[in-house]
Order: sequence, then structure tokens, then C-alpha cells
Amino acid sequence: MAETAKLIYKGKEFSFPVVTGTENESAIDISKLRSETGLITLDPGYKNTGSTRSAITFLDGERGILQYRGIPIEQLAEQSSFVETSYLLIYGELPTTDQLAAFSRKLTYHSMIHEDMRHLFAGFPAGGHPMAMLAAMVGGLSAYYPDSLDPNSDIDMHIARVMSKVRTLAAFGYKKRIGQPVMYPRNDLRYCGNFMYMMSAVPAERYEPDAMVEKAINQLLILHADHEQNCSSSTVRMVGSANANLYAAISAGICALWGPLHGGANQAVMDMLREIYTTGGDPKKFMEEVKDKKSGRRLMGFGHRVYKNYDPRAKILKKMADELLPHLGVKDPMLDIAKNLEEIALKDSYFVERKLYPNVDFYSGLVYKAIGIPEDMFTVMFALGRLPGWIAQWREMLADPDKAIGRPRQVYTGYTKRDYMPIEKR
Ligand code: CMC
Repeated sequence: MAETAKLIYKGKEFSFPVVTGTENESAIDISKLRSETGLITLDPGYKNTGSTRSAITFLDGERGILQYRGIPIEQLAEQSSFVETSYLLIYGELPTTDQLAAFSRKLTYHSMIHEDMRHLFAGFPAGGHPMAMLAAMVGGLSAYYPDSLDPNSDIDMHIARVMSKVRTLAAFGYKKRIGQPVMYPRNDLRYCGNFMYMMSAVPAERYEPDAMVEKAINQLLILHADHEQNCSSSTVRMVGSANANLYAAISAGICALWGPLHGGANQAVMDMLREIYTTGGDPKKFMEEVKDKKSGRRLMGFGHRVYKNYDPRAKILKKMADELLPHLGVKDPMLDIAKNLEEIALKDSYFVERKLYPNVDFYSGLVYKAIGIPEDMFTVMFALGRLPGWIAQWREMLADPDKAIGRPRQVYTGYTKRDYMPIEKR
């Protein structure tokens, strides 16, 4: 018999179905709660609220598992490319050779932006944050593709456009920030190599992307590609639920990701490592401070709302840092400090008891730094990676038979009815 959960309220018993997902996660379906009881639920931060059924990403924080469409993140990072993983997330299956070739071709031939858009960059102040430019430009794409306003327009074309052009817009924003001429995309390069080219090349010199760096960028983007109903993905779904166009929904996702509580923690990790380095490089002293609650300090890049075990993405990034830095001839004392901090934390009862392990941000900044990506571009890299996840969540939401405009309720705590007071009597 199907399981139910019972609620007793004002002496009456109500029963609600329990739904179970394919990985045996259970939830009480309260969609009839208000109509049957007059009650709503109150759940700040949605810590106990499932906003949707989803078949895209499964994550089990207790066991340190992350899977896209059922495939473990470790396998995708090792064997797949970012473009292939994007196809998997968006369309649900790994592509055949023909499907992958067709998808890649679309991404290659939609990489340029309208020349008028390139001129828009001139209007931004020098030193403007790259996330501000990216959010504005991605929202602006809808002005160049007005058919996107029609929900029945060619969705796959818009998906390819946004996937391809976000890369160009991110790189152009960076070039604007550092005052270098933009580099137009090259069709002979693959997705990540082309991005590195637009970021790193200058017209005066030949540039070919380093194969190991290209592989590392692929892996970094794969690791960030989706994380189920996080703040930015929920934002994309919320905006999209009003039938806003794809570019508008993605632009909103970029804004949500910009928040330091979401996409900005790896910058905070770099600040912390730099501070330890410049004050003598003693991680033990810093750890004592972290454990002293009065200091108000935290070990950045450690702990996670969902993972209560080693974040599988952090494991891959640590290995990547170990391999990539020597290949690039980079000797970064901050990597040694990070490893020291981790070693101390994993043996220390404070961290063990609270189940605090390294998260995705602990090593990613060090890898970006070694590749030559500046710190204010870290969140832009996160946005590039998260893009297929946002698109997949948006597409799934549109096709959901239960789709409804996102519109939570509230418990009102303001004044009860009172009369308007003319200004001279206040
Ligand atoms: N350093 C020291 N103590 C910590 C840390 C930390 N990094 N994280 C949690 N704690 C302690 C916290 O003080 C609390 O202790 P007590 O029980 O004695 O009061 C306990 O652990 C539980 O902490 P919490 O704040 O209730 O846990 P949370 O699930 O609300 O917070 C977190 C998760 C990620 C906000 C937090 O671990 C944190 O601030 N970490 C550092 C910042 C960081 O690395 N953020 C990136 C997160 S990953 C982003 C992503 O996946 O996209």
C-alpha cells in the first residue's frame, strides 16, 4: 500500500501521500495541504522543501555522491568533455557520435556575437566587474533574438546560441576589463580551447591552447555543471516559470550565482591562504583561531550544507592541482598551505565531529590561479560551467506537466488593517 503521512490539526486527521524517488528519497506531497486544511508550510531557505521532481542530478551529501543523469561525476570528469556532459544534462542521454558532432557544430557556428553587442562593451566603465557585464549581456541577447520571446520558438537553437555565446561574452568582458583588444572566436578550436584563446591570446602573437590546460578547463566546467536545486538553478526555474525567455532566465541565474554565499567562496579561500602565507605561513595558528568561536573565523572551502562527507568534486580538484601545477612549472606555496590545513582538519576532532570536509571551492581557486585566470573571473568560470545545468533545469521545468508559475506564500507579520493618516496629522 502507498505510504502516507498524517497530520492532526484542530482535532481532524488529514493524510498526505509520500512520494519516493528512484534513489529512495522520500517526500510528503503537500500540494493539497492548503485546500484541505487552510494551512501553508513555513520553511525559510527551503531547507526542507522539494520544489520539483527532477531527473537531472542526484546528490547524496552523506555518502559524498554526485551523479548527472545517473553517471558518477568522477567518470564524467575523467572520460567526458564539457560539451558532451552538457548534452547529457540538457537532453538526458549521452549523445551518439552523430548527435555529438551536430551539437558541437552548432556551438562552433554560433560563437560570434552581433557586432553591435561588441560595441556595448565600450559603454561599461573600465574596471567594471565581469559578472555585471556578463549578466547584462546575456539578458541583452534576447534583444538580438526577439523570436526567443515566443515560447514556441526553436528552443534548441536558443540553447546552442546561449551555450556558445556566453563563452564569447565572458572573454570579451575580461578583455574590456584589462583593456586589451577582443579576440574573435576561432572555428578550428574546440569549446574550451576556444575560450582560452579568446581570454589569453593577443593579436600580436600566435596562440595555441595547452592540451593539459584545455583538459583541466573541461574538467573544471564539468565539476560545476549542475548541482540540482541550488540558489541559481532555482532562480532560473523561478524566472522561467513565468515563461520569460531563456536568455532572461539565464541572466537571472548569473546574478544569483554572483552572491558570495553561492559562487564566490573560492575567492574567499584564496584570501585566506594569502593571509596565512603573508603572516608567516603557519596553518596551525590559523586553525586554532578557526576553532575559537569568538574569532568569528571559518576555514573557507570547508563544510557544506549538503555534503557531510568529502565533496567528490574536491577530490578531483586536489588531484588536478597536483598534476597541473608541476606541468605548468608553477610552485605555489599556497597549495602546500592548503594541503597542510586539510591534513590538520581531517585529524582534528572539531572538524571530524562536525563532518566538515573540503568542498569544491577549496582547491578550485588554486587551479584557476595556476592556469592564469584572475580572481575576479572565478565566478564567471563557475557561470560558464553551470550553464548547461541551468538550461537543463529550465528545459525540464517547461516540459513538466505540473508546471506552474513559481509563487510561494507567506506568513504575514505586519500591521493589521488601519486607516490612512493625512501627512499633516502624522
Ligand atoms: N570552519 C569552521 N567551522 C565551521 C565551518 C568552517 N568552514 N563550517 C561549519 N562550521 C561549524 C559551525 O561553526 C557550526 O559549529 P557549531 O555546531 O559548534 O555551532 C557547525 O560547523 C555547523 O555549521 P553550520 O554553519 O550550521 O553549517 P551549514 O550547513 O549551515 O553551513 C557552510 C555550510 C558551507 C555555509 C559552512 O560550512 C561554511 O561557512 N563554510 C565556509 C564557506 C564555504 O566554503 N562555502 C562554500 C560552500 S560550497 C559551495 C557550492 O557547493 O556551491
